Amino acid sequence: MTQSSSNKVAFFSSKSFDKQVFAQFEQTKPVIVSHIESRLEQTTVALAAGFDTVCVFVNDDVNTQVVEQLAELGVKHVALRCAGYNNVDITTCHKLGISVSHVPVYSPYSVAEHALSLILTLNRRTHKAYNRVKEGNFELQGLLGFTLHNKTIGVIGTGHIGSAFINIVEGFGCKILAYDPTPNPLIKSKVEYVDLQYLLTHSDIISLHCPLTQDNSHMINVNAIQQMKDGVMIINTSRGGLIDTSALIKGLKTQKIGYVGLDVYEMESELFFRDRSYEVIQDDLFQRLSTFHNVLITGHQGFFTQEALNEIATTTINNICGVTEGQTNHDNFL
Ligand code: NAI
Repeated sequence: MTQSSSNKVAFFSSKSFDKQVFAQFEQTKPVIVSHIESRLEQTTVALAAGFDTVCVFVNDDVNTQVVEQLAELGVKHVALRCAGYNNVDITTCHKLGISVSHVPVYSPYSVAEHALSLILTLNRRTHKAYNRVKEGNFELQGLLGFTLHNKTIGVIGTGHIGSAFINIVEGFGCKILAYDPTPNPLIKSKVEYVDLQYLLTHSDIISLHCPLTQDNSHMINVNAIQQMKDGVMIINTSRGGLIDTSALIKGLKTQKIGYVGLDVYEMESELFFRDRSYEVIQDDLFQRLSTFHNVLITGHQGFFTQEALNEIATTTINNICGVTEGQTNHDNFL
């Protein structure tokens, strides 16, 4: 295979683990990957000059202006190395002849298991117990949890990740309510499909597993929170924009909400995936949120298992090669 027939890929928001996992394809696939640490956005789009493809992740900002500039630079394909695609203006891409691919399924178990780890940690406060015992403090006061068995878990979105999550919590003996405009026949026997309002009013734990769209932005807002049970636990491993963070803070302050576990945050693109421990964080909303004793935030690591990374890399490279070979007519192309 010649260098000229290879697809040249500008790999934005690259991390050392990306370099490692994508390196395995360098000798076997017709792609030349150039790693760029910066996120793709208006100020960095010029770096895509001379490339056939841009490969992007969850917080790259592929908005209308960026897409227009990509088209001017001759970029033909946007390869998302993730499932969600709310950060790409797909309509403009199509209008300007740029194809878009994503990785619809890669170890949905990785995110589902992370949602469960947020629930168990928040409930049994293992993160606090770890620190106490390390310091020789064996006091139990403040560590009181609840038994998950027989509790009602409301699952919003029952696709790949939501159904993997349902299969896990079923094992705990939980009652499961589900809301999804397109119910999943594979898990119908395990859940009671209900409308959103019923789910909000009857669940002890609510876990979000639907994509972020224009229609469901801030679906968890003041009104939704008002309807929830007192002391409810809210888990979001999906997309930050599904929750109105100010409403969440209000709900925590009034103690309507008992626990919050987040792997995503609506303004995460300004914060996540970087060491900011020596910076003064300017996001007051995030800073307020992280002061609550009953809030646990992780920095979008739900996908981050070795198995998931391998699947993401394999599918992304196959998608990119699919463009070169003219095979773009399948589910991975948007
Ligand atoms: P999927 O496409 O298999 O399932 C999504 C489900 O949500 C579908 O059944 C759909 O009908 C349903 N849905 C759509 N709009 C809805 C609404 N307004 N209310 C309720 N349900 C709705 O997607 P998958 O693979 O399960 O992923 C779900 C989301 O998880 C992704 O869109 C992404 O935002 C997030 N994600 C987070 C990761 C992380 O590392 N934290 C990693 C991968 C995905």
